[in-house]
Amino acid sequence: MRVLLIGGGGREHALALGLAADPAVDHLIAAPGNPGIAAVAELRPVDQNDPEAVAALAVRTGADLVVIGPEAPLVAGVADAVRAAGIACFGPGADAARLEGSKAFAKEIMTAAKVPTARAHTCHNADETASALDDFGPPYVVKNDGLAAGKGVVVTEDWAVALAHAERCGQVVVEEYLHGPEVSLFVVTDGEAAVPLLPAQDFKRVGEGDTGPNTGGMGAYAPLPWTPAGLVDDVMATVVHPTLAEMRHRGTPFAGLLYVGLAITAAGPKVIEFNARFGDPETQVVLALLETPLGGLLHAAATGTLAAHPPLRWRSGAGVTVVVASAGYPAAPRTGDVITGADRDGIIHAGTTRAPDGALLSAGGRVLCATAVAPELAAARAAAYALVEGVRLEGSHHRRDIALAALEGRVGLPQ
Ligand code: AMP
Ligand code: GLY
Repeated sequence: MRVLLIGGGGREHALALGLAADPAVDHLIAAPGNPGIAAVAELRPVDQNDPEAVAALAVRTGADLVVIGPEAPLVAGVADAVRAAGIACFGPGADAARLEGSKAFAKEIMTAAKVPTARAHTCHNADETASALDDFGPPYVVKNDGLAAGKGVVVTEDWAVALAHAERCGQVVVEEYLHGPEVSLFVVTDGEAAVPLLPAQDFKRVGEGDTGPNTGGMGAYAPLPWTPAGLVDDVMATVVHPTLAEMRHRGTPFAGLLYVGLAITAAGPKVIEFNARFGDPETQVVLALLETPLGGLLHAAATGTLAAHPPLRWRSGAGVTVVVASAGYPAAPRTGDVITGADRDGIIHAGTTRAPDGALLSAGGRVLCATAVAPELAAARAAAYALVEGVRLEGSHHRRDIALAALEGRVGLPQ
């Protein structure tokens, strides 16, 4: 099978490693890819958000399967264009990707499907926002309706800050604050059959102890030793299947990766957000633990044959990934700094590029993800931090507490 992978971040590097390790994948092409992905795939340039350009590349490269990593191409309709060219594609079409592309749409689907989630109001002006903020009270949660690359959500105790964020965004969703630890559950689906991957936890805030602004994610680990028994079955029954049924009912079945972001509240798991693609950096740990060949699994989802796919097999043990971020991330990431020490197994490239002289340079906010798997969480964590210590990048920063609370048994479930 020839596979074309679209994207060039840390998630795509993790996907590329999984695809390249699948014996059924005899040729892997990545567009645009990145210097880390170049070790396992042939790279091609492409405007990844241009549906016709991606479809043409898929035809030119003789791809049997196209895997779309990031959300922007999905929302732009790249999967539709690839399928229209007669090529199997892992990733929802534009209509179904609205589950991520519009927070208001996601709420509408959840309401129709009776999925447990935060109560919310969609607001179009300052008056509506102000009354929604007062309705729910602090902490205030204000979400930009559209795609915002991890910067659309403000959670604050400050009424004026919440209102100012709404003013900058236009249409927003204001919602009730959910108390409880967060879980990312990835579900591979062909629109009807659905296969959950291992739950993972992401660290969204830039600072240790979950302080400072939201980021795309500063680290992750899996599996989660503290989740309530039956969590995955519960979420499949109360969230995933009702959502997939509602999408089918509307004539826009969702096939691809449904990312369910949950808060485990005193009243059970509730949805914080849906995404239409693998999460970054959770994918780095989840796929590192997956033993089942990735290409076959994604191909089954892309061709409507997931019900016949064998059950997933997982490595025992745990995975930890720690993001090395550039100076100034998330507010104003500096790029173009030289990186050394990145040439090691377990270093996943998120935002890197090659200078003409071959030097590796930072090219984004999240630069590298140091990823390790070991039989125990403590050893995986130690190995990931040892990898971080080997990396040199001027001004970089990382969180020192990834997976620490889980290791110390301090992740509390609300009573
Ligand atoms: P989102 O992009 O919707 O996942 O929001 C980004 C982050 O903001 C989430 O991972 C949570 O940490 C936080 N957040 C979003 N919505 C809520 C909520 N209703 N209650 C508590 N925290 C939230
Ligand atoms: N790690 C969060 C996300 O991918 O949206």
